[in-house]
Amino acid sequence: MVTIIPQNPKLWRPSPPTSSSLLFTVKKFHPKISNTLNNNDETKQSSAGKIKREVLTKEGRTKLNIYSDRDFYAYPRFVTHVDDGFISTLTNLYRQRLRPDSEILDLMSSWVSHLPQEVVFERVVGHGLNAQELAKNPRLDYFIVKDLNQEQKLEFEDCSFDAVLCTVSVQYLQQPEKVFGEVFRVLKPGGVFIVSFSNRMFYEKAISAWREGSAYGRVQLVVQYFQCVEGFTQPEIIRKLPDVPDDKSPFSGLMRLLGLLSASDPFYAVVSYKNFKPVYE
Ligand SMILES: C[S@@+](CC[C@H](N)C(=O)[O-])C[C@H]1O[C@@H](n2cnc3c(N)ncnc32)[C@H](O)[C@@H]1O
Repeated sequence: MVTIIPQNPKLWRPSPPTSSSLLFTVKKFHPKISNTLNNNDETKQSSAGKIKREVLTKEGRTKLNIYSDRDFYAYPRFVTHVDDGFISTLTNLYRQRLRPDSEILDLMSSWVSHLPQEVVFERVVGHGLNAQELAKNPRLDYFIVKDLNQEQKLEFEDCSFDAVLCTVSVQYLQQPEKVFGEVFRVLKPGGVFIVSFSNRMFYEKAISAWREGSAYGRVQLVVQYFQCVEGFTQPEIIRKLPDVPDDKSPFSGLMRLLGLLSASDPFYAVVSYKNFKPVYE
């Protein structure tokens, strides 16, 4: 089940989750919600968007906490999940890659989107599991609440967005191949998908393949999520690792031990574009 809620709670009228009633609740813009969720004719003729292979094994998809993700995220967490250095690197990346006036989907979002404040976008649609967090996010025009581990279909028409973002959350996806396939479908040709992450996580909710992987392995995992979908460009890897302090004095050693000189969060992003050319079998 999915709920689509305009960001201004005053506009929210609970309605049955059918496409027509959802469209009725949306006042400010037409979010291109798909009625049929079928691919369009062009996509049918080409193999673009096809999932070529599964990346994860059954075991790799498992979580230590097997209870519902909706329950885990039932209470809002108004915290930032990464440090200021990570956020400023990410915001700079967005500044470079996201066009003003474009349409953006922030997948697995919360009360912050880390978008550059000075840039105006045509619309930003958020997605996540906690409605209270999403309602507080000042960048979102609208948002949807949906558990992507229960159902991967996104309620948007083909080619709806110029960019899709997924920040410090990819490790929680148990069906990443299908989610990346859906992102491909809702992206416009030439649109970008930016997946960023660090080394932090809700350990019990991260999939086993992520928990057990090295930093290099995690980057490769995300690269493979892109590569398993026909039609994404060769993924680009962006890394910014914390500087290791040179200072070997006993005082610095003690400070580090006490956590007072801790290194900042490592930054990783994997970026890929939806190919302009259709891919034929
Ligand atoms: C660590 S938070 C990151 C939030 C946000 N992207 C940020 O940068 O602060 C992880 C997010 O993933 C989302 N999430 C986790 N499991 C999910 C699932 N099964 N389906 C949809 N969203 C999920 C939650 O809504 C949560 O806000």
